Amino acid sequence: MRIFFAGATGAVGRILLPKLLAAGHSVVASTRSAEHVARLQAAGAEAVVVDVLDRSALFAAVAQARPDAVMHQLTDLSGRDFAANNRLRVEGTPNLVDAALAAGVSRMVAQSLYSIYGPGEGPASEDEPMDLDAPPPRRSMIAGVHALEQAVARMPVGVALRNGYFYGPGTWYARESLTTDQIRRSEIAATGGVVSFLHVADAAEASLQALSWPAGPVNIADDEPAPGTAWVPLFASLVGAPPPPVKPGRQPWERGASNAKARGLGWVPACPTWRTGFVQELSAG
Ligand SMILES: NC(=O)c1ccc[n+]([C@@H]2O[C@H](COP(=O)([O-])OP(=O)(O)OC[C@H]3O[C@@H](n4cnc5c(N)ncnc54)[C@H](OP(=O)(O)O)[C@@H]3O)[C@@H](O)[C@H]2O)c1
Repeated sequence: MRIFFAGATGAVGRILLPKLLAAGHSVVASTRSAEHVARLQAAGAEAVVVDVLDRSALFAAVAQARPDAVMHQLTDLSGRDFAANNRLRVEGTPNLVDAALAAGVSRMVAQSLYSIYGPGEGPASEDEPMDLDAPPPRRSMIAGVHALEQAVARMPVGVALRNGYFYGPGTWYARESLTTDQIRRSEIAATGGVVSFLHVADAAEASLQALSWPAGPVNIADDEPAPGTAWVPLFASLVGAPPPPVKPGRQPWERGASNAKARGLGWVPACPTWRTGFVQELSAG
């Protein structure tokens, strides 16, 4: 397949690009930065400099690439600028979908997020609605994810991958990361809140496989939703931090996500649980 890849230089993209090429796809990778072009070309992709917020330039770039599919791994989180990230979801994603449709592309795989489900007990599945009435600031995050997925659903085949929280190289939960700094300063409490983690390489593998999945949302998370009372102490011990403060209780929506649908589609996480994944990624030396 010929693929227009938006977001090839990000945390998932850096792992996914060589996988796509190794699988025999040809890739036109986009970046906003001319400095990234040589790296993308050296990896074996064609490269194009375009900002997805520049609608007319994006239309031209996608049309010129003549892709069969669009891979969307766009986020704007390296500066933790959540407003910029939401703009990519609300404005950038519709631009990309419209550019793909105008170029006659039928298939898109897009990076979404799992933590949009409403209150409940146990891990959420894809048939549960988004928590659109959540209080702020969660409300605007969910509105952004909703806008992203609404746009992706306009594709003839649009697959939205509702990823767990990434850990592994270059992520917020890497050994050298803000999370580690915060846990060393005892700023993250061990609560009863449950999250779903995902090794970033497993996210990349799911994105590759999703090029042949049917349309719709799919949770991509490891097998074991993680209560803060379990993952924060393990993380702390692995990075040599003091035991975290313990605060019982959880927000009712902190419940993790079920990966049953993804597993049913054939995706098998190489890191099935954060318990062993954290040891692999966070141990010293
Ligand atoms: N589920 C999760 O837990 C999750 C999801 C995403 C990110 N994160 C975290 O956020 C941190 C930063 O993520 P990241 O390293 O992937 O970087 P990032 O800054 O979020 O960028 C990701 C990709 O989006 C592209 N991009 C951003 N804005 C764009 C625009 N307007 N037009 C075109 N392309 C655009 C970037 O390309 P260029 O910069 O080359 O233009 C890059 O390829 C990481 O620590 C990661 O773990 C977590």
